[in-house]
Amino acid sequence: MSSHTHVHGAYEEPESPEVISRRQWMANATIAISGIIGLTLAIPIVGSLVPDVGSGGATWTPLDENGWKQLQSATDKAVQIDINLKSKDAYLPAQSAPQSVWGIKVKDPQKFMRDRKDLFAADNKDMLPYPVVTMGFVLFSPICPHLGCYYQYKSDTNSFFCPCHGSTYDEYGARTGGPTARGLDPLPLREQTGVAQVEWIRYAPTVPNRLVISYTS
Ligand code: FES
Repeated sequence: MSSHTHVHGAYEEPESPEVISRRQWMANATIAISGIIGLTLAIPIVGSLVPDVGSGGATWTPLDENGWKQLQSATDKAVQIDINLKSKDAYLPAQSAPQSVWGIKVKDPQKFMRDRKDLFAADNKDMLPYPVVTMGFVLFSPICPHLGCYYQYKSDTNSFFCPCHGSTYDEYGARTGGPTARGLDPLPLREQTGVAQVEWIRYAPTVPNRLVISYTS
C-alpha cells in the first residue's frame, strides 16, 4: 500500500529543472547527432568522429627505435621517425606500409599551449581525447591538414612547409600561412614496456576541426 502510494506520488511529482534541462539537452544532442551523421555520410571511411584511443579499429604501432632515440636526444629540431603501419582488413591478410611521423620535443610547454590554442581548452585541458604532449614530446601526423600531401621540415627555420599549396607551420605545428584551416595534427603517443608507440589517425582534410576518417592509412 505504502509503496503504491509512493509510486503514485512520484508520478505526480513535477519534473525537476534538472530533468527538464537534461531532456532538452538530449533533444539538442539528437539534432546535433543527426547533423553529424549527415555530414559523415559524405566521408567514405568513417572510423569515429572522436578518436577513441586504443579501440574503434585503432592500433598502436611501435616507433622505429633509432628515430625514438634521436627524438629523445633532440633539443630544437624536429625528428622524422619511421613506423610500419599495420592495416587490418577482414578480407585480406594483415599488411604493413611504411610511414613516418614527425616528433618534436616540447621545451616550453607554456609556449606550446599558447601557440596551439586549437588543441587546448580555456582551462588548458586537452581538447582531443588523448594527451597531446606525452613524456615531453609531441608526434605529428606527416599529412598536411589542407589536402593530404606530405609536408616537409625546414631545418634552417625550424618550421614545416607543404610543397603542394604552400601551407606553413611553425616549430610547434601551428598554422602560420597558406590555405590550411588548422595546424598539424598530433597523434597519441605512449610508452609500453620500454617501447614508444604511436596511434595512427587520419583526420579529415580542409576543415578546421579534427574528424577521424581512418585509423589505418
Ligand atoms: S596539401 Fe598541403 S598546402 Fe595543400
